[in-house]
Amino acid sequence: MRVGGVYFDAARGAMDVIGAATPLVLESIRAMTLPRERFTLCDMGCADGATSLSMIGAAIGEIRRRAPTLPVCIVHSDQPLNDYNALMRTVHGLSAVESFLPAFDHLYPLASATTFFHQILPPRSLHLGFSACAMHWLSTRPCDLSDHVHPAAAEGPEREAYREQARRDWETLLVHRAAELVPGGRLVLAPFARDGEGRYFGRTRGVSVFETVNDIWRSFVDDGSVTREEYARMNHVQYYRSEEEWRAPFDDPASAVSRAGLRLLSLETRVLPCPLATAFSAHRDPERLAADYVPSVRYWSESIYGGALSPERPAEERREILEGFYRAYRDRVRARPSDHAMDHVNAYLVIEKE
Ligand SMILES: C[S@@+](CC[C@H](N)C(=O)[O-])C[C@H]1O[C@@H](n2cnc3c(N)ncnc32)[C@H](O)[C@@H]1O
Repeated sequence: MRVGGVYFDAARGAMDVIGAATPLVLESIRAMTLPRERFTLCDMGCADGATSLSMIGAAIGEIRRRAPTLPVCIVHSDQPLNDYNALMRTVHGLSAVESFLPAFDHLYPLASATTFFHQILPPRSLHLGFSACAMHWLSTRPCDLSDHVHPAAAEGPEREAYREQARRDWETLLVHRAAELVPGGRLVLAPFARDGEGRYFGRTRGVSVFETVNDIWRSFVDDGSVTREEYARMNHVQYYRSEEEWRAPFDDPASAVSRAGLRLLSLETRVLPCPLATAFSAHRDPERLAADYVPSVRYWSESIYGGALSPERPAEERREILEGFYRAYRDRVRARPSDHAMDHVNAYLVIEKE
């Protein structure tokens, strides 16, 4: 993920996902007995914080209706290398987007750089945990992928290694949340997912985003622009779980998750249309679509592909390879604009601590 506050502009689709999850947040707050001392809400995998500002504002509004002066801690958390300066600029209203902060009193925004694969908050202190478009990331790379950049399209033992890592990671991160949550506390999660028809992010209609990416990189291997080893390192360390996989630890009464007292209240997988493809169907300008679309692909992929190129190549050469890759992608979008769409496929889960 690139840093520096660039996330927001490229993340209109993610904002739609958070918009779709917001009613679940509000319903969860309504269903809770509010604490007397303080309410803690944690956004896990918040990036630069911009996409969740409205959801957090709505959540605080809901709390305020019943508890006008209850202190509310908002913990914005991500990985250690996230851009926390950009995050704090966003939260404190110093960026282009409007923050929830000036609208309410008794708010305490905090930041944590602890990964969600560890416990972020003290035991029994979290009332509402939220996470969007983040918990499909794995804690570790199980193996290189020899034939694809994304495990969702990989096959055989390599795909199985990602599946098994995802199974373990899901349990690990839930057990940590179970320790943090107060009894009656809830999680509202909207991670990337695979639906019952095998659809996932960018693979719902037209050409698949990851097939396009893979195709271009393989042509670069074929013409000698990158090596086979570099291509094999270009992995998205992620896994799009199916409903069955999200549900599995809750369905097993002996799992560590069930024993820790978490239960799944609701789960549904939804497809939300790509805002850029929707805009294209109105403006019909392939140049404009390509100009909007490729930076969006670039922001979530550049660090992965750039990091896979050999450090023995001069920095200028690596930059040129990446520029060539995104030029090739742009050409494909220009040539067949109606084929390109990054629809979001996310699971929406509501989980309660008993
Ligand atoms: C696609 S962005 C989503 C940002 C925001 N939640 C949204 O929906 O717009 C994914 C974020 O998850 C974060 N992330 C990935 N793995 C993580 C981990 N193990 N712990 C915390 N954050 C993580 C990334 O650093 C990145 O900021």
